[in-house]
Amino acid sequence: MIKRVRSWWTREDKMEPSAPSIDNVPEHVAIIMDGNGRWAKRQGLPRFIGHRSGMKAVKRTTIAADKLGIKYLTLYAFSTENWKRPKDEVDFLMRLPQEFLAIELEELIENNVQVRMMGDREGLPSYTINAMEEAVRRTADNDGLVLNFALNYGSRKEITDCMRELGRKIEAGTLKPEDITEEMLDQYMLSSGIPDPDLIIRTSGEMRISNFMLWQMAYSEMWFTDVYWPDFNEHYLYEAVAEYQRRTRRYGGLT
Ligand code: FPP
Repeated sequence: MIKRVRSWWTREDKMEPSAPSIDNVPEHVAIIMDGNGRWAKRQGLPRFIGHRSGMKAVKRTTIAADKLGIKYLTLYAFSTENWKRPKDEVDFLMRLPQEFLAIELEELIENNVQVRMMGDREGLPSYTINAMEEAVRRTADNDGLVLNFALNYGSRKEITDCMRELGRKIEAGTLKPEDITEEMLDQYMLSSGIPDPDLIIRTSGEMRISNFMLWQMAYSEMWFTDVYWPDFNEHYLYEAVAEYQRRTRRYGGLT
């Protein structure tokens, strides 16, 4: 099989002057995409229009991340708590991955993007799972940007499931509690195989984490913006990355 090498990264157009340095680009950027509802309300539109516009911001951000040389982009698309929303909004959100992939999958494949999903399959409608699984399968051989959708994802549930799995092994006598290591826990998390996020972005002015990657974010840099997610674009990503590049990461040590 011929390996695809194309990516948006190799497009003819040059990086804009406002783009940050391509040295020290965060390897993994994770985004809490918030503010779709308020974006719509501000314009007197129904909430679902905000979510659909948010889907367009997903495309823009994916291209911008790839051009910058970010290797992993995780997007918080639906949390385990989002089921509390009205049924018609949940139904709409569940259709979005299918809608997005129907439009974008071929372009993602062509541009060497690998799609992944991080979350509980249980509870998701079959059309959502099928669309995600098709995208994961058809992009599995791609080795460009990893576009990781956190869908029906909740960090406490992820950690609880991990504990249960380890508990079962201890009960079966195949694992000793003293042999449990942080690296082992990493492997049991849904993000297994993906490095911890270097940079976490949250849009819409809210300053909270909302049950997102609690284990993995121990040393992530945080960047918050008042911009609502449907308005997010490459310039905000550049701003976030430029700010990241100005920070000194000490991981509890000294510089
Ligand atoms: C939070 O905004 C956003 C969500 C719960 C959904 C995020 C989904 C998308 C951006 C589209 C996903 C696209 C794909 C391709 C899966 P909110 O509704 O809580 O906004 P609010 O706080 O202003 O009400």
